[in-house]
Amino acid sequence: MKDEINFNKEEYTALAAIGKNMLKTKSPDKMMDETKNCGLKKTLGAFDLIMLGIGVIIGSGIFTVVGIASAGGNGTLGAGPAVVISMILASLACVFSAMCYAEFAAMIPAAGSAYLYTYATMGEFLAWIVGWSLLMEFLIGYIAVLSAWCGYLMEFIKGFSKYLPEWLYNPPIWLIQDYSTAANTLTKTGLNPDAVIPRIFGIPICFSLPGIIFTIIVALILIKGIKESARMTGVLVFIKLGVIALFIITGAFYVQPENWHPFAPNGLNSIFVGAFLIFFAYIGFDAISTAAEETKNPQKNLPIGIIGSLLICTIVYVLTALVLMGINPVDKINLQAPLAYAISSVGQNKIAGLISIGALAGLTSVLMVMLLAGTRILYAMSRDGFLPRILKTLHPKHKTPYVVTILAAIICIIGSTFLDISTAAELCNFGTFTSFIIVCVAVLILRKTDPNRNRPFKVPFSPVFPLLGILCCGTLMFYSMKFLTTSKILFPVWILLGIVIYLIYGYKQQRKIEKE
Ligand code: ALA
Repeated sequence: MKDEINFNKEEYTALAAIGKNMLKTKSPDKMMDETKNCGLKKTLGAFDLIMLGIGVIIGSGIFTVVGIASAGGNGTLGAGPAVVISMILASLACVFSAMCYAEFAAMIPAAGSAYLYTYATMGEFLAWIVGWSLLMEFLIGYIAVLSAWCGYLMEFIKGFSKYLPEWLYNPPIWLIQDYSTAANTLTKTGLNPDAVIPRIFGIPICFSLPGIIFTIIVALILIKGIKESARMTGVLVFIKLGVIALFIITGAFYVQPENWHPFAPNGLNSIFVGAFLIFFAYIGFDAISTAAEETKNPQKNLPIGIIGSLLICTIVYVLTALVLMGINPVDKINLQAPLAYAISSVGQNKIAGLISIGALAGLTSVLMVMLLAGTRILYAMSRDGFLPRILKTLHPKHKTPYVVTILAAIICIIGSTFLDISTAAELCNFGTFTSFIIVCVAVLILRKTDPNRNRPFKVPFSPVFPLLGILCCGTLMFYSMKFLTTSKILFPVWILLGIVIYLIYGYKQQRKIEKE
């Protein structure tokens, strides 16, 4: 009996030590030391931040996901015209978390974002989980945006069908879409997917060749080192906003108000699921907070930049959705390129072509930023020893983390062959909600544990705003789970995989590093 008690005590001590290690934090000062040689200039004002925000935020959410959120797809019921309410709900969930991001970003302006903020407050285990969730946000989100990009590319090429060979504007479906999208499209048109999609050893061969080629190009550009100048971002924002304005103004002439009725055909549930899905359209504003170090007067400009870009995007999104839902009845909404399709359905083919060009330009900038962000998270995690050190190897000439960039591109290419746009966007949302919730909690913790630290920007009305952030994101996430199918299974699988990798690799590596 005595032996047994001793054994339990040892076991208890070992478990307590593991728990203590998992809660080990890294001091913000050490994080700042590691990034000291950056010496970035403080040049960005509120306007630049708003431009940067719109540049990153507006992408496939409004060019594609809005179709799924309103008309439904992949097992979810659409919100119908009430998608505008979903948009306002999603933007509310973002505002509170955005401020928490801003507080941290102004305090610890270093690559790694929410992953670092969590490491500073809640220890290495949760930091790893946040880093792992951020990979889902950026890399799986990349897959969703890529799918939209391919849809618009095909619409664009079709516009030139008179001048091009048929194989280019009408390629086999298994060369331009992931399996599930292709199978859905074929079934809808009355064809048997098994008769069209080839198989090798029983495995369906179905992938997006343009998406693969484009991902390789983006990875090569990132390896070479791209510095998106403020001017280039400005031009892309201008093109994006220009084509959306064109859609709203032209489309307004074709709106038939009866298409707005019934306003919420599938009730309140579908509005919440719509808010969950359309949340994807707002993802990216967290990137504004990473520019904190380069911002003049961050106390004033960061909140203006974040809230300003969220507000502008919300207005743009609501107007776009109203016009889109007014042009055609909800069951006529196209799921891959809804805006271009709606405008061409009323005979405005040239405008549809311009919208496709604008969407391609806009989606390209979002894709570059998402892959870049994914590689920087992987880089920060390997720098801390949670992933093999080889991943932090820099290119000898370009000084960019080329090993992680190649790895990230491979993950995106493989994922893009079997994840359809809605599953990828849902997974990206799950990853983002998780990190938003943890960042809101982290703000509350650091206010208690390190109240005197210099905070160039403070979330107003704390703890109310961070708590509202947790509540909004948590409610949308858990409520929507009831109505989602594939993603609600894949998300916990992803988190479990992350925990296993941490336990068999990251945890041990950390202990080794501590001994060195
Ligand atoms: N907000 C980004 C988009 O809609 C992710 O593409």
